[in-house]
Amino acid sequence: MNIFEATRENIIKAGNILKSGSLVVIPTETVYGLAGDVFNEKSLAKIFQVKERPHFDPLITHIADREILFKLADIEGNKLIEKVIDKFWPGPLTLVLPKKDIVPDLATSGLSTFAVRMPSNEIALEIIRHSNGALAAPSANPFGYLSPTTAEHVYSQLGDKVDMIIDGGLCQIGVESTVLDLSKSKPVVLRPGALSVEDLIAELGEVEVYNRKTVTPRAPGQLASHYSPGKDLIILDHNIVIDDHRKIGLLSFKGDKNGINYSTREILSTKGDIIEAAANLFKALHILDDSDVDVIYAEPVPECGIGRAIMDRLYKASKK
Ligand code: TXA
Ligand code: MG
Repeated sequence: MNIFEATRENIIKAGNILKSGSLVVIPTETVYGLAGDVFNEKSLAKIFQVKERPHFDPLITHIADREILFKLADIEGNKLIEKVIDKFWPGPLTLVLPKKDIVPDLATSGLSTFAVRMPSNEIALEIIRHSNGALAAPSANPFGYLSPTTAEHVYSQLGDKVDMIIDGGLCQIGVESTVLDLSKSKPVVLRPGALSVEDLIAELGEVEVYNRKTVTPRAPGQLASHYSPGKDLIILDHNIVIDDHRKIGLLSFKGDKNGINYSTREILSTKGDIIEAAANLFKALHILDDSDVDVIYAEPVPECGIGRAIMDRLYKASKK
């Protein structure tokens, strides 16, 4: 078993493994990340290999302090970027920025921009500090599959393909960071995530939001099919009567009665708290996917705040 407690000793060991070019799975406040030294092309190649991720899908770089941002990003004198960072870092916001040559093309799939965030999870920050200072880390799941929010999810998906999984318990937020492109004249949300669009608008004024229904993908995370369980997932439409004789797993928002004849049910938040619902989303989907049901039906949640990220993940999971 390669799951390790987040002791000081293990964090130092993780830093050394990363410096040597191997991979470590790290907890973050959003989801677990499959981390490798961003400056080492061999580590980056391993990330793509272990995740079976296509090379056209660029990685997010994770940092623990601001000085290094200025070494990686070409953003001298950009006041807007500093304002956004002052407000939202450390935290679940990834910025797409113009990059300097020091960021390898393999990390960015050859783009002139790169994605970067400073996580707020203390264990993640400590591991970054004990590494070479910047870690590429996509979510620690095979490409296209459900993201992991516990060390056990990671182990069941990646097993011994990584040297070390650092256990940080259940991820506090439970959905991925919001990806905000600040490399163009107007800020664009490329992936709705843990930080709400409402909070971004309050800080930035106008923000364009990528719309899954009308726009062709600009980031591979926008691919229609993503974050998917192995089983079919159908989003419930309350106007349609369900006539399905398969064994149904129900993903319920609050546990309200809805007339569905389910064999297994997972409730996201009995209080109807959207933040709690987000934290439980992937865990509940993993449970339903591992159960003996034939199909998963998901109740929609209110599409505001972090609810927008939940619905984005459910729509992508519903596309095969
Ligand atoms: O919460 C998170 O962001 C987690 C944790 C581990 O930090 N990481 C994560 O990484 O979700 P990943 O690789 O699963 O998603 C990265 C997203 C993808 O949608 C990718 O296409 C987009 O960021 N991305 C990366 N670089 C980009 C770039 N230069 N331009 C546009 N999108 C980019
Ligand atoms: Mg991912």
